[in-house]
Amino acid sequence: MTKVFVPGSFDPMHLGHLDVVDQAREIFGEVVVGILHNPSKPSGMFSVDERVALARATVADRTHVTVSAFTGLAVQAAAEAGTSIIVKGLRTASDFDIEQQMAQNNVALTGVRTVFVPCRPDLAFISSRFIREISANGVSVAHMVVPEVERALAAKHGER
Ligand code: PNS
Repeated sequence: MTKVFVPGSFDPMHLGHLDVVDQAREIFGEVVVGILHNPSKPSGMFSVDERVALARATVADRTHVTVSAFTGLAVQAAAEAGTSIIVKGLRTASDFDIEQQMAQNNVALTGVRTVFVPCRPDLAFISSRFIREISANGVSVAHMVVPEVERALAAKHGER
């Protein structure tokens, strides 16, 4: 069994992310999901602690999958998680452009390798950004997230 690191903002985790975790688990055996800050994105909707809780709820019935928050670079987080392999999901060609550059930086920095998995076609339209936008307007996102995340989104919008 090989341990791999699946990093992301996960604001919040959705079924597309879950598919990437499942693919990584199927191929390698053990997955650490890492909640990381993406400096190119605004501060986000959920706190890091909330994102961890929602990601844990999303992967709750999976064995050999853990979720933690990390600070710093993805390569530092992967090392802290005890692996030198990152797994990322790709939805579109534009995903590939940025992901390839990050992967090349990461291997140049510490030798960490990135393995890309194509996302399931029926889940390719899902993104955390659109989930936040759709749910903010009172429309159900039940087809994109687990029930715990849908409830947390509804509660978050109720707070506003
Ligand atoms: O879910 P996202 O927002 O696509 O995840 C992107 C994330 C958080 C994995 C990426 O921004 C990242 O790795 N951030 C950590 C900082 C880092 O390692 N930057 C180096 C880029 S070469």
